[in-house]
Amino acid sequence: MVSRVIPVDPFDLVVFGGTGDLARRKILPGLYRRFRDGQIPETAQIIGAARSDMDAAAYRKQVAAALGEFLPARLLDKTRVQAFLDRIAYVKIDATGTGGWTDLKGKMRTGHVQVFYFSVAPGLFGGIAERLHKYKIAREGARIVAEKPFGNDLETARALNETLARYFGEHQIYRIDHYLGKETVQNLMAVRFGNMLFEPLWKNQYIDHVQITVAETVGVGGRGTYYDKSGAMRDMVQNHLMQLLCLTAMEPPSRFEPDAVRDEKLKVIRALEPVREGDIVRGQYLAGEVGGEATPSYLADVENAASLTESFVAMKVHVANWRWNGTPFYLRTGKRMKSRLSEIVVRFKEPPHSIFDEDTGQSANELRIRLQPNEGMDLSVTIKEPGPGGMRLMNVPLDMTFAEALGEEATDVPDAYERLIMDVIRGNQTLFMRGDEVEAAWAWTDPIISSWEAREARPAEYETGSTGPEEALILMHRDGRRWRELEA
Ligand code: BG6
Repeated sequence: MVSRVIPVDPFDLVVFGGTGDLARRKILPGLYRRFRDGQIPETAQIIGAARSDMDAAAYRKQVAAALGEFLPARLLDKTRVQAFLDRIAYVKIDATGTGGWTDLKGKMRTGHVQVFYFSVAPGLFGGIAERLHKYKIAREGARIVAEKPFGNDLETARALNETLARYFGEHQIYRIDHYLGKETVQNLMAVRFGNMLFEPLWKNQYIDHVQITVAETVGVGGRGTYYDKSGAMRDMVQNHLMQLLCLTAMEPPSRFEPDAVRDEKLKVIRALEPVREGDIVRGQYLAGEVGGEATPSYLADVENAASLTESFVAMKVHVANWRWNGTPFYLRTGKRMKSRLSEIVVRFKEPPHSIFDEDTGQSANELRIRLQPNEGMDLSVTIKEPGPGGMRLMNVPLDMTFAEALGEEATDVPDAYERLIMDVIRGNQTLFMRGDEVEAAWAWTDPIISSWEAREARPAEYETGSTGPEEALILMHRDGRRWRELEA
């Protein structure tokens, strides 16, 4: 495979929450992979910062263990792992006090890109930003990365934006939505704006509706306390699903540049109509079985028998502008569903007049953009069924599964986090959310959430391993449409 890896500039990257789950599962393994591929220079420095009292050697041991746990053995070449660990330092830090900040300052080198990754609870963001400023650790041009959740509603997101703005300019703030780092999400833009084929048809005149599904088989076990305060709407819809909706619905930006892209996404969010009560279904999963093992119900997982929080949501959304008037977007996401599948389905309209007999088997074209698993796209087209028997039609997929089309090159595509961290180091904000975008997303979801809270309605129940509550199927059926099967 021809390497197209372009090394980034030497950097100092501080991971606040360096011993936390996200650092162990995603950030550190991702950095190792980029290092192994030669994208991270040998002079880079990664500094774990956390509350635990330990030295660099002990931290490196933890990092080594995380690599072993979250990366396939074939990637763990001994000398590369050691070289990576040599790049790692540790600082015990008190995010809300005075301890550790001068140590951290001492580790910063001049002439290196500075990145501060806030992989901690959002309540700590402000205090960390303030101290980076107060102890004169962050230089001009330093970048901070803010993990989700970015606020819990419009008010908290606004407050967070204001706090960060006291110490950092918008061009220094990278709000992560890891869905934007997924290969296929970027491919959606490539397909829409790099071809002549789709864009002329990308409108209400030719598209019947769009479906966006992010289904998971996992439950919320282990994250119950956080999740029960969020629910699917805050955890998934306000960020990941809305970003997918924006990229699908936005107007072509004039350039593939941060503000050009983000301006267009923002216009979509601002064009979203308030969702009618009857156009939303909420659900909670019941106890069930996954792979032969009994699994608890949502209520048991969050240890709150009275919880009214949703682990599933399906909704019909309208983008009120010329392009999309009359073409609904159906969104659904849930835990403990039948399969793990994220995809965008663009269903085209039937031809305006059929010249074939009604029972010949003609059906509408569908473009299916799969984010995971089996990243790729297929477009169903109607053809004549081969052979004798008259004019019988069938639908066949024009399939572009990346793994098949690109072979070996597709098997090692960077994980979303790897790509996004490299973008931060390169100083490219295109795939990060701007402050006004996050606020606009909350401004749209807030009234929906508050009306649920005011009504104290219990979400519908659904079976583990299902496609969600019956009501979600009805949401489509009553419009004469159906969800695409949940199969990878
Ligand atoms: C996170 C949510 O942002 O995304 C999780 O907090 C969810 O609840 C996860 O499981 C899904 O990400 P992915 O990349 O596995 O689809």
